[in-house]
Amino acid sequence: MKILLIGDIVGAIGREMIMKYVPILKKEHALDLVIANGENSAHGKGITKKIYDKLLQAGVDVITMGNHTFSKNDIYNFIDEAQSLIRPVNMEPTGYGKSTCIVHVKGKKIAVSNVCGEVFMYNVIDSPFLCMEEILENTQADIHIVDFHGEATSEKIAFTYRFAGEVQVVVGTHTHVQTADERIVKGTAAISDLGMCGAYESVLGRDVNEIVTRFTTNEKTKYTLATGPGIFCGAIVTIDEQTNQATHIERIQIRPKEV
Ligand SMILES: [Fe+2]
Ligand SMILES: [Fe+2]
Repeated sequence: MKILLIGDIVGAIGREMIMKYVPILKKEHALDLVIANGENSAHGKGITKKIYDKLLQAGVDVITMGNHTFSKNDIYNFIDEAQSLIRPVNMEPTGYGKSTCIVHVKGKKIAVSNVCGEVFMYNVIDSPFLCMEEILENTQADIHIVDFHGEATSEKIAFTYRFAGEVQVVVGTHTHVQTADERIVKGTAAISDLGMCGAYESVLGRDVNEIVTRFTTNEKTKYTLATGPGIFCGAIVTIDEQTNQATHIERIQIRPKEV
């Protein structure tokens, strides 16, 4: 079984990358499941119902979120009914939506969950480690997949080792920069960060000049997204259907031609 996991989709350019490359990669790699982080898909912050529907139409099966889950008010209109959308279990506001999504693929019950790291993150109300233990206790599944939305690679790697052998896929999101530490530990595929889908010439998807100004003058700037050719980042995990263990993880990074 092959699963494509995609990093934070940032704005219109990120969405264009999804529309373009998900169908191509699905065909090329005979993918069985596609999971993408949509926390920045609506103009860099949050998600709307319209975008949620579009991403599913493009071939994404499950959408995970992060600290920007509630950045667009539209989320409150559809999150409780959105079957294929999950939000971090340990982040406020709680009481909206769900944090684990069950999908059935090739006769396997797959649980996809979304947790948030505590290091350098706001509104986190519980340990992702304890929350994951609780999810595993309460959710029977053949394969567990987790999107760990967090800033610190140390926390993500520690999480991988803690749940190696119990959770089959641990992928990080949030930093928008893909890490080169993909590994298999006791049948668990992991990478600290998948990277992003968005404008390549940017600072994490945002306008370069604006962010440079922000850092050099402390001036409070807007949230302008960068434009131009896009980058697509993610990873493909192979699961052995006999053992339900991950056997391979391959980073995917499609860049525009650099000039
Ligand atoms: Fe984030
Ligand atoms: Fe993000």
